[in-house]
Amino acid sequence: MVESVLILSASSGKNLALANAFKETFTSRNLNAVVVDLTELDWPLYTPLTEKNLDAVPDTSSLSDLIMKASALVVCAPEYNGLTPPTLNNCIAWLSVRCDDFRILFNNRTVLLATHSGGGGAHCLMAMRQQFSFLGSNVIGRSMTLNSSKPFSQSTMDDLVDRVIQ
Ligand SMILES: Cc1cc2nc3c(=O)[nH]c(=O)nc-3n(C[C@H](O)[C@H](O)[C@H](O)COP(=O)(O)O)c2cc1C
Repeated sequence: MVESVLILSASSGKNLALANAFKETFTSRNLNAVVVDLTELDWPLYTPLTEKNLDAVPDTSSLSDLIMKASALVVCAPEYNGLTPPTLNNCIAWLSVRCDDFRILFNNRTVLLATHSGGGGAHCLMAMRQQFSFLGSNVIGRSMTLNSSKPFSQSTMDDLVDRVIQ
């Protein structure tokens, strides 16, 4: 049974607003929901050299603890150049090298995907679906796509939240 949801926003604008709308919707169903804005993590760019520099290595434990406590994840990310933004990929790269058992963070975890992008956002959603599937997550079939010609729909969000809760 889903009791708590962690909502990751890979940008601080419209995707953060979308993340907060998810939080409100989960909260209205009496579920505990937490939003993390990945742009505020301020983790350095992962490189093999940075990983060896103990002064530069970020403390990833707070975020990995939040992921471990969450029954499900929602990821809101804008499309950047036909892919996901570097904030998301950098975050996953650091988690993968800093956690003792990185696989348990995402393996068998329910993941819902959403994007507010400049264009269609389909490439970003496909990239996230491929990445989280690779990590062993159970990615929900329906996702949320918003852009200038596709405005927010509360009924779509309600349906997506239902799919997470079920
Ligand atoms: C570096 C960069 C690359 C982008 N590439 C794309 C793209 O390939 N496809 C697209 O639909 N939008 C693209 N956009 C537009 C963003 O997806 C759009 O502005 C999004 O709403 C930003 O989200 P935010 O308001 O949460 O920061 C790009 C924006 C930036 C800054």
